[in-house]
Amino acid sequence: MKRISLLLVMLLAAFGWIITSCGSGPQKQTQEAETVVQDEAEAPVMTDEMAIMMARGEQIYKEKCLACHQANGHGLPNAFPTLVGSDFLLNQTVMAVSQVLNGSEKVPSPKTIKYPAPMPPQADTKEDAVAVINYVLNNFGNDGGYITLDDVAHIVIEPRDI
Ligand code: HEC
Repeated sequence: MKRISLLLVMLLAAFGWIITSCGSGPQKQTQEAETVVQDEAEAPVMTDEMAIMMARGEQIYKEKCLACHQANGHGLPNAFPTLVGSDFLLNQTVMAVSQVLNGSEKVPSPKTIKYPAPMPPQADTKEDAVAVINYVLNNFGNDGGYITLDDVAHIVIEPRDI
């Protein structure tokens, strides 16, 4: 009798082990699969060339634009316009590149506020102007797509006054 109950306990234990291992197996697999899918969805779809251009754009922004348009792109009230949701930037992007190259005295944006001082020319090459505009088009909450060098081929870089 003692032997039988011992056998029964062992059987129950073995059964319990089988049940738990079977139960956790597939669940674990599903979790892993979900993590993989999430990683793929977050990966930016960007070529190396674009990634290099965006890094250059960020560098130019920090060196040249941040002082006026601020670290978050919001500018300063009545002094420097916000770039976040800017109609001029998002919908007249070629003109925005032109403004970065030639300044807002030569390429004014249709503005409702009169700013105390114009925006001086910022970039010396179209490559730099396109890189920084692509950076601001896709940062600070903007989702403005991309502009290419071909799009701005017709822009003439004006001689600087200084
Ligand atoms: C010295 C301050 C200053 C610097 C530096 C500066 N900006 Fe500006 N920016 C302005 C002012 C002022 C305006 C408004 C110009 C106007 O239309 O009269 C402006 C306007 C703009 C606009 C148009 C926004 C709109 O909705 O009218 C864009 C785009 C822009 N700047 C991008 C840049 C980028 C990119 C850089 C850096 C490469 C830069 N700015 C550097 C002062 C500056």
